[in-house]
Amino acid sequence: KNQIKFIKFFKMVKKNTCVFISGQGSNLKNLIFFSRDNIFPIKISLVISDNKNAYGLNYAKKFQIPYILINTRSKSYENKILSNLKKYNISFICLAGYMKMISNNLIRIYQKKIINIHPSLLPKFKGLNTFNRILKNKEKKTGCTVHYVNEKLDGGSTIIQKSFFIDKKDNELDLKRKTQKLEHRAFPEAIIKIFSQN
Ligand code: GRF
Repeated sequence: KNQIKFIKFFKMVKKNTCVFISGQGSNLKNLIFFSRDNIFPIKISLVISDNKNAYGLNYAKKFQIPYILINTRSKSYENKILSNLKKYNISFICLAGYMKMISNNLIRIYQKKIINIHPSLLPKFKGLNTFNRILKNKEKKTGCTVHYVNEKLDGGSTIIQKSFFIDKKDNELDLKRKTQKLEHRAFPEAIIKIFSQN
């Protein structure tokens, strides 16, 4: 029995993963934490940020994960992304609070290999400013969605959703806090789900 365990352990090759961020990076931090477990299917091999002041970059530094900054206004930024994904042998991409659209070219190359986390129960409330719109719309429930990325904004198929009931007293900050708590469970669960199907 132990031998089987041993063989299984060595058969699992972690997917080299790149996480794209723009800000706080709490999802990045959470994924780093999970990926340090031997049986979690991915290794965070690269972090890409379009914002040099993104707090999340501190986690890359702290855990000695290579990171690159991109300037999305420069024409060559797409090439910089592609060459680095190649350099680090990246086969899977997680968007974690990345505020820019991913190019169609990248989506084509990484077909069904890019996932995103969004702070609403998609297809409701695509795009920005979700918590404000959720409150204005007097929703009873909200939550988060992990989904595949396609050419349409927040439009790819859902992998996992988690929800909670909104309290009458909840303001935007409360919704954010409650949603992020669920996100930190949903993102790793979605990754495990994807790789246990393959
Ligand atoms: C998350 O709420 C996610 O749903 C959205 O951006 C936020 C990123 O948070 N796409 P963080 O940077 O991971 O803390």
